[in-house]
Amino acid sequence: MDDTERVLSRAHELATEFLAGLGERPVWPRVTFEQMLQAFDGPMPESGADPVAVLDQLASTADPGLAGTAGPRFFGFVIGGHLPAALGADVLTSTWDQNAGINALTPAAAAVEVVAGRWVVDALGLPAGAAVGLVTGGMMANYTCLSAGRHAVLARAGWDVAARGLFEAPRVRVVVGRYRHDTIDRAVRYLGLGQDSVVEVDTDDQGRIDVADLGRVLAGGDGPAIVCLQAGEVHSGAFDDFAAAIPVARTYDAWVHVDGAFGLWAAASPSYRHLTLGMADADSWATDAHKTLNVPYDSGLAIVQDPAAVVAGFGVEADYLIGASGDPMERVPEFSRRARGFAVWAALRSLGRDGLAVLVDRLCATASMLAKGFEEVDEVEVVNDVVFTQVMFRLSSDERTAELGRRLLADGTCVVTPAIWAGRTVQRCAVSNWSTSEADVAATVAAVRRVVAAL
Ligand SMILES: Cc1ncc(COP(=O)(O)O)c(C=O)c1O
Repeated sequence: MDDTERVLSRAHELATEFLAGLGERPVWPRVTFEQMLQAFDGPMPESGADPVAVLDQLASTADPGLAGTAGPRFFGFVIGGHLPAALGADVLTSTWDQNAGINALTPAAAAVEVVAGRWVVDALGLPAGAAVGLVTGGMMANYTCLSAGRHAVLARAGWDVAARGLFEAPRVRVVVGRYRHDTIDRAVRYLGLGQDSVVEVDTDDQGRIDVADLGRVLAGGDGPAIVCLQAGEVHSGAFDDFAAAIPVARTYDAWVHVDGAFGLWAAASPSYRHLTLGMADADSWATDAHKTLNVPYDSGLAIVQDPAAVVAGFGVEADYLIGASGDPMERVPEFSRRARGFAVWAALRSLGRDGLAVLVDRLCATASMLAKGFEEVDEVEVVNDVVFTQVMFRLSSDERTAELGRRLLADGTCVVTPAIWAGRTVQRCAVSNWSTSEADVAATVAAVRRVVAAL
């Protein structure tokens, strides 16, 4: 066996062992960042080492510092697992090592992206012909979509931002709900629009935008505007009322963007599609494949109804490229990049339309089961309307809620992560992993009951 074969065979063994133990290992890392730094630290080695020995060293050193994010009882942040087909395709993606930017160079990677993009657009009921760019995640999807929006609203105001930049350009207002995700603000800063261009609209107790206030805010200013709506608030899972909000935004000729990092996928399920009513009338949609769709990191999708708006910012004309217009690199900020389409395609191909709906329904049913189980534990109160995959809960005081979270992480059965909601400390769960079973729900509720009893 040559080195590559030996290393792949060892990597397969290590990966299989890791996956076999995933349901049993403590879900939160057993060591701190500082301990991991110490474990990996040392001078740059003067000479090389056998690749299999390197892999063994890497796996054994990293192991205590790995979180069980790929496993069934990780409910922190919003982190999906990996469907078997998507994981397999991701391993092949590294093996094939394609640079997915150019149709002519890597036709397989480029074509699979186009098809996977069309399937996503179809499954989510978005307009056929929308441009789909494969990016690292929701953050870059928001950035890519808002870049297209910036171009379009400035063009309507007679300003070509691609040619003239932002100096002396008309001021763009970015109108957002009070509970938008932080990545919207990051994208706005990254786009050079500046934090001061962000204008907040009131939200209700679930974080949904107040449509009457949206109208007031838009009427209170003038000039180009981008309105950011949300499919799935990160704490509560709430969806904005698209059918009411989008027509209001249209009255002011605003670009409408939907951040649906995990919630956009509600549109793929006949049982949850009602949450997204009217959403297809927006101009752009950001989502992740590494959350609800359970594709391995990193994988996000930037969907823009008018491809010309995104190409305006990211089009390329380098003389040494064999490329022609329509290359994948024209739909994303990156130039060279990983062929993320293979894993997205494999996830969708393995699920089919039915399986995708079942996946969404199952994540939502699991969230409802968790909420019901938590409510049955003395002192636990579920604080949000569980409409999708998010569950927030708390105890009688902020201190006890925070301590519950700390002790749950140490207990290792499951991971939930803390947040502040309506001024109170809460613990939040985001059900995002395809493999979570009823037994995992029972184990999680039992861990909460055990820890609360011991507080
Ligand atoms: C609503 C929302 N938008 C954007 C993001 C950012 O996504 P990513 O972490 O994939 O960049 C998240 C992450 O949880 C999210 O929940």
